[in-house]
Parts: sequence; structure tokens; C-alpha cells
Amino acid sequence: MSKVAEYDAIAFGCPAMGAEVLEEGEFDPMFTEVEGSLSGKKIGLFGSYGWGDGQWMRDWEDRCNTAGANLIMDGVMANNAPDDDAITECKGLGKALC
Ligand SMILES: Cc1cc2nc3c(=O)[nH]c(=O)nc-3n(C[C@H](O)[C@H](O)[C@H](O)COP(=O)(O)O)c2cc1C
Repeated sequence: MSKVAEYDAIAFGCPAMGAEVLEEGEFDPMFTEVEGSLSGKKIGLFGSYGWGDGQWMRDWEDRCNTAGANLIMDGVMANNAPDDDAITECKGLGKALC
């Protein structure tokens, strides 16, 4: 049984990679394995990106919604390194998961 079953609330973080996709070597295989177990759980997403417009995050949110997850807020996106706003949003995400 996956560890996911032990938790009611989980934050996942992953940057945009490839062409507007989740990192494909480790993160996407892990997420694909657990997404079927996210129904009803409080889920928060965060990640950084470079030159895109956030498509990877919208697609990721769609996957969570399709899985029946309870997305607590829009995914927090940081352009490369998090600025003060992104740090504040991350703190809000952490609080919302509690
Ligand atoms: C191989 C590769 C692919 C990337 N693909 C995208 C992309 O499709 N869209 C985007 O906005 N940024 C893309 N980026 C930029 C990264 O998302 C950005 O640099 C991010 O902050 C990296 O996070 P990390 O330092 O945690 O790995 C890519 C970067 C690399 C190295």
C-alpha cells in the first residue's frame, strides 16, 4: 500500500519540465502511481517554471480534479526562484493543508 493512504493532506511540488510537463524521470512516475489514491484528500500543488505560461500546472490541476482530489487552492507557481509573493503563497498553502 502506498504511503499516500496514511495521510489526509499532501503537498506535491514539481517544476515544469520537458515541454510543459511534470519532471519525467522521477516525479511523474511517482505521481502516476499515487494519483488513483488522491480522491477526497486535501491536496496542494507548487512548483517553479521558466519561460512557459503555467500550462504544466493547469494540466496537473486537471489530473488532480479528475482523480477526485480536493485541491485546496490554485497551484503555487514561482518563476524560477520564488519571490516574496510566491513565498507568501507557499505559506498559505501550508496553512490551508492543516
Ligand atoms: C530540461 C528542462 C525543461 C524545461 N521545460 C520547461 C517548460 O516546458 N516550461 C517552463 O516554463 N519551464 C521549463 N523549464 C524551466 C524550469 O521549469 C525552471 O528552471 C525551474 O525553476 C527548475 O526548477 P528546479 O531548479 O527545481 O529544477 C525547463 C527546464 C529544463 C532544465
